[in-house]
Amino acid sequence: MEPIKPQRVVVMTGATAGLGAHAVSRIAAQLGTRVIIGARGSGTVPPDAEVIPLDLASFASVRAFADAVVRQLGDAPIDILVLNAGVQSATTDKRSAEGYELTFAVNHLAHYLLVRLLLPYMADHGRLVITTSSTHDPANTPIAPKTMEPQELARPSASGFGSGVRAYASSKLCNLLTAQALAVLDEVLVRRISVIAFNPGLTGGTSLGRDSSRARRVFFTFLMRTVFRVVGLFKPEYVMSTAERSGELLADVALGTVAPPPGRIYVSLVKGEPTFPDPSELARSRNARDRLWRESAVMVGLD
Ligand SMILES: NC(=O)c1ccc[n+]([C@@H]2O[C@H](COP(=O)([O-])OP(=O)(O)OC[C@H]3O[C@@H](n4cnc5c(N)ncnc54)[C@H](OP(=O)(O)O)[C@@H]3O)[C@@H](O)[C@H]2O)c1
Repeated sequence: MEPIKPQRVVVMTGATAGLGAHAVSRIAAQLGTRVIIGARGSGTVPPDAEVIPLDLASFASVRAFADAVVRQLGDAPIDILVLNAGVQSATTDKRSAEGYELTFAVNHLAHYLLVRLLLPYMADHGRLVITTSSTHDPANTPIAPKTMEPQELARPSASGFGSGVRAYASSKLCNLLTAQALAVLDEVLVRRISVIAFNPGLTGGTSLGRDSSRARRVFFTFLMRTVFRVVGLFKPEYVMSTAERSGELLADVALGTVAPPPGRIYVSLVKGEPTFPDPSELARSRNARDRLWRESAVMVGLD
């Protein structure tokens, strides 16, 4: 008997831990789905998933990963591309292989490069999901960015207390602006590729911020269980989700069973349910979107 030909190819980052690990289990369980995961070696993945080495802290690794995906797929296009990996540090002291601030490099630049390298290999009517965060939005988070200065994010002039969470929030604004830029590309419009920016909301039980000191992690857990719980009574965005529920919605968004209304790209998990709000004003700025796109291209070495 001839083997069943996979009908759907999914390529994903950030599938080895946290909410991404839950999402990929759900995606891989779909019949006729071939899953390729970019990972730096840790974590467990579904048994049938193919793993290709990927360290988002290095452009060389991103390029090698994209080449390997294209080689491994042959003629088969990518139906769904999920860019979910992310890091959050306490400060902005760490640098990527190319010398960029690590959070900006991993969360934004590496994914920007990856999507530009893989976009030509996506299927018509494909789906492209980038995980962002409501921390990008000043209406939700006091530390959210009020300006978009790519050069400052790439090489911050100041570090110290609070710089890590601010860099994280800015990198998540970059994810949203990149999704906005992709959604209006001719190539994407003509080929009817759907672009979605997904916010899982405050999610417990993941390992985000694992590089922080123990004291910091204990403090953050305390915040989540006390202050955020009280704030959540008035502001539903602060009601904490679980890694299982956030992963389930990421999978549903990737598989297209949950989709934003026509003309919108932002899906935000609030109190366990998908919502489709406007992202922040800055995330809707064409000027910020186009500037980030142009300056990111130079930083990653593309036109
Ligand atoms: N948790 C929240 O409250 C929350 C809220 C809003 C948005 N988010 C977003 O949701 C996404 C997933 O976060 P999470 O909370 O599930 O965090 P997590 O448990 O720490 O998972 C992060 C994932 O990213 C991968 N990753 C990190 N650095 C990498 C690198 N240099 N190269 C390749 N892969 C790398 C990790 O791989 P390893 O297994 O190798 O470490 C892991 O698979 C992130 O984009 C995050 O910004 C989370």
